[in-house]
Amino acid sequence: MDITILGIESSCDDTSAAVIRGGRLLSNVIASQEVHRQYGGVIPELASRAHQQNIIPVVDRAIREAGIGMSDLDGIAFTRGPGLLGSLLVGVSFAKGLALSLDVPMMEINHLQGHICSHFIDLPDRDLPHPRFPFLCLLVSGGHSQIVLVKDYLDMEIVGTTIDDAAGEAFDKCAKLMGLPYPGGPVIDRLAKEGDPKRFKFAKPSVDGFNYSFSGLKTSFLYFLRDRMHEDPRFIDDNKANLCASLQATIIDILLAKLTKAAKQYDIRDIAIAGGVSANSGLREAIAEEGRKRGWRTFLPEFRFTTDNAAMIAVTGYFKYQRGEFAPMDISPVARISRM
Ligand code: KG4
Ligand code: ZN
Repeated sequence: MDITILGIESSCDDTSAAVIRGGRLLSNVIASQEVHRQYGGVIPELASRAHQQNIIPVVDRAIREAGIGMSDLDGIAFTRGPGLLGSLLVGVSFAKGLALSLDVPMMEINHLQGHICSHFIDLPDRDLPHPRFPFLCLLVSGGHSQIVLVKDYLDMEIVGTTIDDAAGEAFDKCAKLMGLPYPGGPVIDRLAKEGDPKRFKFAKPSVDGFNYSFSGLKTSFLYFLRDRMHEDPRFIDDNKANLCASLQATIIDILLAKLTKAAKQYDIRDIAIAGGVSANSGLREAIAEEGRKRGWRTFLPEFRFTTDNAAMIAVTGYFKYQRGEFAPMDISPVARISRM
């Protein structure tokens, strides 16, 4: 019988549970928390409370949708970090209680490894494309912007990282400056489709190696808007699509420049993207185009596996289960993890 793993994800503002059997996804339930929208960002205290309310119904639905019973589970995988401590505590504590009651092992998962392992999920009726080791993954989310050298399912090395803001943060903060709702990434993506990406130019950072920086872009965008609004108070309203398209193009250029450099240096042609920002249609097109030019095989995750989800946690747990890498009962969540 194939191994059946329940995955639990609660690192930020999505409560998610998923069931994977033998690497194939049987269910993936996500409850997103709308409560943060009115504050223009995630409020940690509200996030942990919402996880507490959501976790049991979400796990229950994931089990039912998978068509299994709790007693069919061989192990429980949970996100240990990085993330918001109060949010992580809900998932970690729930996983411990369930593992104890079912007498099955637990696997602690690094959320970032999870995002990357989303490339190894298969569907019940269909295999999805999997990159071959070693490959490079551009991991871009609300909290992280990294280039990761992936040597094996559980053997990864960060070769470049942001020294300040993440790419998703740049999208979200710049969207806020334009008065767009949170999270701004998907809104900018939508508006950018109507705009001219060459209409405005924004400063690009100069950072060492394969590292990124996005805080300068946010500041230059702020000053640019302030100066233009001073001359014309309708500037943002009249130029929203062009602003979004130009900003998005700048972020994509910054991301691709370092990714291309790393691909050359490591002589790697399997290139993947992962994390919430990998849902961005402009980035997906740009990576695919770059791949065609450079002879890369590019791997773009299905949309439902880009933003936070438990399917990626369950599949990573499946690999850990096979290697017997189990977590002790006294394990605690961690807000920050600097290594993979
Ligand atoms: O991976 P994720 O769900 O959570 C973290 O681990 O951070 O990523 C959320 C981030 C947010 O910053 C959001 O604005 C961004 O992903 N995002 C996008 C798009 N969809 C989500 N950014 C640009 N374009 C999108 N379509
Ligand atoms: Zn994430």
